Amino acid sequence: MVYPDFTHGVREIDLGPEDSFAKFPSEVEVEGYDFYLAKGKDGVLRLLSSLCPHSWGTVYLEDTCFMCPSHGWRFELFTGNCINGPIAQMFTFEVNARDGRLFASMPEKKKQAQT
Ligand code: FES
Repeated sequence: MVYPDFTHGVREIDLGPEDSFAKFPSEVEVEGYDFYLAKGKDGVLRLLSSLCPHSWGTVYLEDTCFMCPSHGWRFELFTGNCINGPIAQMFTFEVNARDGRLFASMPEKKKQAQT
C-alpha cells in the first residue's frame, strides 16, 4: 500500500445507488480494498480507507469510533481523524451524489510505460 497519489489525476468510482446505503458508516469494497462510507452531521459523505495510516493495520468499526487493533489508534466516525494519538487521519476520499448514485474520487492509476 502506498499513500493515495493524485499526481496522475482523479477517477470516479461508482459506489452504487445512493439509497442502497441505509446507515453510516457502511462497509464498501472498492477494487478489493475495504472502505467505510461515512456521513458527517453536515451531510458530507466521505470514503475512509480501512488501512490504518500508522502502519497499515486494518481498522474496524466499533460502537463509537473506528479502532486499529495493531497499536490502539482510534478514529472519529465521520472524519477519520485520530482521537487518541498523534495528528493523523484515515485516508479519506471525496464522495459526491449524482443522478441518484454515489461516486468516490480516487487517484488515477499510474500508467505503465509502453515498450
Ligand atoms: S497500525 Fe494502526 S495503530 Fe499502528
